[in-house]
Amino acid sequence: MQNPTSIGAVQDMLAGQDYVCGRALGTVTYLALTLGRPLFLEGEAGTGKTEIAKAIAAGLGRRLIRLQCYEGLDAASAVYEWNFAEQMIAIRTAEAAGGVDRGHLKDELFTEDYLVERPLLQAMRPQAGGAPVLLIDEIDRTDEPFEAFLLEALSDFQVTIPELGTIHAPEPPIVILTSNRTREVHDALKRRCLYHWVDYPTFEREIDILQARAPEAAEQLSREVVAFVQALRTEDLFKKPGVAETIDWAKCLLALDVISLSPEVIADTLGAILKYQDDIARMQGSEAKRILDEVRSTLAPA
Ligand SMILES: Nc1ncnc2c1ncn2[C@@H]1O[C@H](COP(=O)(O)OP(=O)(O)OP(=O)(O)O)[C@@H](O)[C@H]1O
Ligand SMILES: [Mg+2]
Repeated sequence: MQNPTSIGAVQDMLAGQDYVCGRALGTVTYLALTLGRPLFLEGEAGTGKTEIAKAIAAGLGRRLIRLQCYEGLDAASAVYEWNFAEQMIAIRTAEAAGGVDRGHLKDELFTEDYLVERPLLQAMRPQAGGAPVLLIDEIDRTDEPFEAFLLEALSDFQVTIPELGTIHAPEPPIVILTSNRTREVHDALKRRCLYHWVDYPTFEREIDILQARAPEAAEQLSREVVAFVQALRTEDLFKKPGVAETIDWAKCLLALDVISLSPEVIADTLGAILKYQDDIARMQGSEAKRILDEVRSTLAPA
């Protein structure tokens, strides 16, 4: 499928994948697709940063290739490795067959047959349906040397394998990087990208998201759930609930046949929205009731 030709078309395409996208995010996504620039999404946990890459890939009918970052991630795991086990077997087989011609064997062992392609190299390969979406997820978890390496890979979309030569992407992949900002990512990398901070959604948008992801939830319950989670985000918590938690919670309540929140129901299901014991302990007892009362007083009758 061709790139959308307007911001509205981007929003529609994402809506088709049950992804609710505001004007600002729609604009930066449209620009990234149109200008062929990487999109750098930073923001709170569970606000839809990873999900948008999936929605773009599905919406455009492209392959999604994901590079999950972690501390200690190195080029071998990100780009390519040689399949040592297969190479050893080939050597043993050649030995058993008698007479090993070392020079010749070396040429044979370092061919694409023994190459294990990792995400960055896969993303350079032509794909049926067009350039893939390359999701470089949680880049803040890697270290700076890997970031510098990525910067280079993203600037020319090519990979050099000494034994094979340079592999160049015929069409650059659509690159989406995400970060939870556990550390600042280097300016040089950010400069290459279009940047967007993914904030918690507004009340209306979160209702829309819940409607898209848990359509079984009745309007009354959805409004209470979203208003309660939004109120929780203003509390002094160690880990605030994201959109993912809102959806999870609504699904838990549905599974329990809850039609309206009560302090008891909240206490029993807090584990769906808060994942730290200190936060849960804070919200137990009268606190949940206080917030629920507040929420009720602000919610106009649906
Ligand atoms: N705008 C949205 N439209 C539809 N669903 C959304 C949206 N935002 C979040 N979600 C839902 O929330 C879930 C979590 O989103 P996602 O995994 O993308 O969060 P994230 O920002 O990558 O979080 P983390 O930083 O923890 O990885 C998704 O699976 C999706 O169901
Ligand atoms: Mg994520």
